[in-house]
Amino acid sequence: MRRLVAETRLSVDDLVAPLFVKEGIDAPEPVASMPGVVQHSQASLRAEVRELAALGIPAVILFGVPARKDARGSAADDPDGVVQVALRTLRDDHGDDIVLMADTCLDEYTDHGHCGLLDDHGEADNDATLERYGAVAVAQATAGAQVVAPSGMMDGQVAAIREALDDAGHAGASILAYSAKYASALYGPFRDAAECAPSFGDRRSYQMDPPNAREALEEVGLDLAEGADMVMVKPALAYLDIIASVRAAVDVPLGAYHVSGEYAMVHAAAQQGWIDGDAVMREHLVSIRRAGADFVLTYFARALAEQLSG
Ligand code: PBG
Repeated sequence: MRRLVAETRLSVDDLVAPLFVKEGIDAPEPVASMPGVVQHSQASLRAEVRELAALGIPAVILFGVPARKDARGSAADDPDGVVQVALRTLRDDHGDDIVLMADTCLDEYTDHGHCGLLDDHGEADNDATLERYGAVAVAQATAGAQVVAPSGMMDGQVAAIREALDDAGHAGASILAYSAKYASALYGPFRDAAECAPSFGDRRSYQMDPPNAREALEEVGLDLAEGADMVMVKPALAYLDIIASVRAAVDVPLGAYHVSGEYAMVHAAAQQGWIDGDAVMREHLVSIRRAGADFVLTYFARALAEQLSG
């Protein structure tokens, strides 16, 4: 009866698996703060994506860990950069059978760990960064990404990326905008996985402040006006109200990013025997869908897909 009358369902169709690929390693390296998550080699990434595709997961999003970092994040748009190499291989392997998304940002590639270029005062230089984001998006689309996902929260980034993609002949590439991305304490484990903790300061000058909700709708409206095809709220559970209000306001596809800290907390408590990790995983993910997200980026994608298929 519950199955019959359920208002919300978890489906493999709504999952996006975030994956890390690191340059210069021969075997996958575990991420201590994210049990079950690894930094992939090119070969292990390829094998993982084959298995995810076989499980029916429709999309993955790639994050790169380059061997060398510099002030402008040069590896981010290098055609031989770690993510571009991975995208080309995966596109060859899968054609259009899986959606390849790429995180479009500089923080994994800059030596200072910030999402943009810095000015003389060490502040993110919004406008100078836009050109870099355009170049990164073009490199990713050229390598095979159908979706680029700008996560740096610079003003005007969606318009700059749309223009750069169109000029480069990638009018068909979609933009998934991290529109309402909060300056959250839940990104800690990700920064281990992507080796991108800021070397000084924090991201509060460009990411949103947790107390603000109306501002999220403003950000979503701006991104859509600039040409975003899909929008996203991040993190997910502490921002279910934001997901619900964005859902009520717009009809475009809405994603939610169930982030690294949310994943790590479930594992940590389950390891202690304090909660049933699988049950909490499903409860959390269904609540994100119930709040109104069409799809969820989650490190639990594989585990949930396995449960749903088993
Ligand atoms: C920035 C980016 C971050 C995450 C996704 N894209 C890190 C940050 O803003 O500090 C975090 C995702 C997570 O915690 O799982 N490129």
